[in-house]
Amino acid sequence: MKKIAMIGVALCATLSFLLAQTPKKPAGSQSSVTRGKKVYEQYCLTCHQVDGSGVPHLNPPLIKTSFVLGDKGKLIQVILKGMQASEPIDDEYYSNNMPPHNFLKDQEIADVLTYVRRNFGNKASAVTTADVKTARAKN
Ligand code: HEC
Repeated sequence: MKKIAMIGVALCATLSFLLAQTPKKPAGSQSSVTRGKKVYEQYCLTCHQVDGSGVPHLNPPLIKTSFVLGDKGKLIQVILKGMQASEPIDDEYYSNNMPPHNFLKDQEIADVLTYVRRNFGNKASAVTTADVKTARAKN
């Protein structure tokens, strides 16, 4: 009986030691992609859909389009100024309009675009708040 108690104590000690070793994430250390997902869900998902596939003839997909994978400055301008269906996107026309999202903070725009450029099968570099600041200055 004593032996079992001893093993129990030893096990507890080992467990609490292991738990103490697990690094705890300090608040605010979420990655840009994690934060960007939340921004996407709140502001973009209704039109561009959960998987970024869009709605045929209405809202364009965000999967490997020339905007998503292309020049960051141009991409940020789409978010800031919105987009009217006057020019085709990769040879397709979409009848809906993209509303301007210049009310979003620099960090939110950087995060949501980093999320988009790293998801839906896209593999492109992150967008930083410095990129967003530069784009805003050109407005
Ligand atoms: C009300 C619907 C709507 C919302 C909300 C919306 N978009 Fe759009 N978005 C559109 C439409 C429609 C277009 C294409 C407009 C055109 O054809 O001129 C577009 C175009 C784009 C484009 C460029 C074209 C492409 O497919 O690559 C990107 C990038 C984009 N949106 C990202 C976003 C992001 C990120 C958000 C959230 C911050 C967002 N959109 C919110 C409807 C929307």
